[in-house]
Amino acid sequence: MEKTLRIRRQENPFSEAYFEEYSVPYDDNMTIAVALLNLSEGQLKKKDEAHPFRPVAFDHSCHQKRCGACAMVINDRPSLACDTRLSSFSEDLIKIEPLKKFPVILDLLCDRSSVFERLKDLKVWIEGESGLQGEEISYEATRCIKCGLCLEICPNFYREGRFGGMAAMAEQAALLAKIGPAQRKKAADNYKRSVYEGCGKSLACRDICPAKLDIEELLVRSNAAALWKRWLKFQEIE
Ligand code: SF4
Ligand code: SF4
Ligand code: FES
Repeated sequence: MEKTLRIRRQENPFSEAYFEEYSVPYDDNMTIAVALLNLSEGQLKKKDEAHPFRPVAFDHSCHQKRCGACAMVINDRPSLACDTRLSSFSEDLIKIEPLKKFPVILDLLCDRSSVFERLKDLKVWIEGESGLQGEEISYEATRCIKCGLCLEICPNFYREGRFGGMAAMAEQAALLAKIGPAQRKKAADNYKRSVYEGCGKSLACRDICPAKLDIEELLVRSNAAALWKRWLKFQEIE
C-alpha cells in the first residue's frame, strides 16, 4: 500500500514556503510521525526534483499522545502526528502543514512559546494558602498536554490577543479549584479577562482535543467560581 505525503516546507522563518511530495509505503499501524521520520532518514521517494533533499523538521518526543509536541495540520484538521495513522485516510494524498496560529521556524516546526509565556503572565500557580479541594476537577484540567490543537481550531484565538483559549483555560481551571481565599480575586479577574470574555462557547475545541478533556464541565465550574463566586459549589464534586 502506498500514499503520497504533500508536505509544506520552509527553510527559515522569512523564506517562501513550498510543497514537496513523497511516496510512502505504509501498513495499518504507520503514523504520520513515523512516516516523517522515515522521510528524514532518506527512506521515502521524492516525487519531484525542484529542491534538493533535506530532512523534514518537526517536533516530536513521546509518540504516545502525551507531550503534545507533534501538533500539526493534517489534511486540514489540527492533529497529533503520532496519533494519526496513514490508513485512517481514504484519500491517496495527505497534506501536512504546520500549525497556522504560530510563527514557523522551519518546515513543520513552529514557535509555541507564547502559550507558555501567557501562563506565566497569568501566574497560574498557588501562592500561600491552598484550598486543597476540588481535586477531581483539578486532575481533569491538568490532563491538558498544551498541544495547541484547540487554539488552531478556535475562531476566537489569535496569538497577540487577550483570549488564551482552552490551553490557558485548563490551567486556570486547575488553579481555581485549589486556591485559597487570598488569591481568589486576582485569579478570578485573570480568568474573566483571558477566558470568559473571549470564549464563544462553540466547543469546537472539545472535538479536536486529543486528551478528550471535559471542556464543557471545566468551563461551567470555572465560570461558576470566577464569575459568580460560587467557590464552595465549584469545589464540591458530585
Ligand atoms: S485543551 Fe486539549 S487541545 Fe487544547 S492544549 Fe489542552 S490537550 Fe491540547
Ligand atoms: S468553546 Fe469555541 S471559542 Fe471557546 S475556546 Fe473552544 S473553540 Fe474557542
Ligand atoms: S510525540 Fe508526543 S504527543 Fe506526539
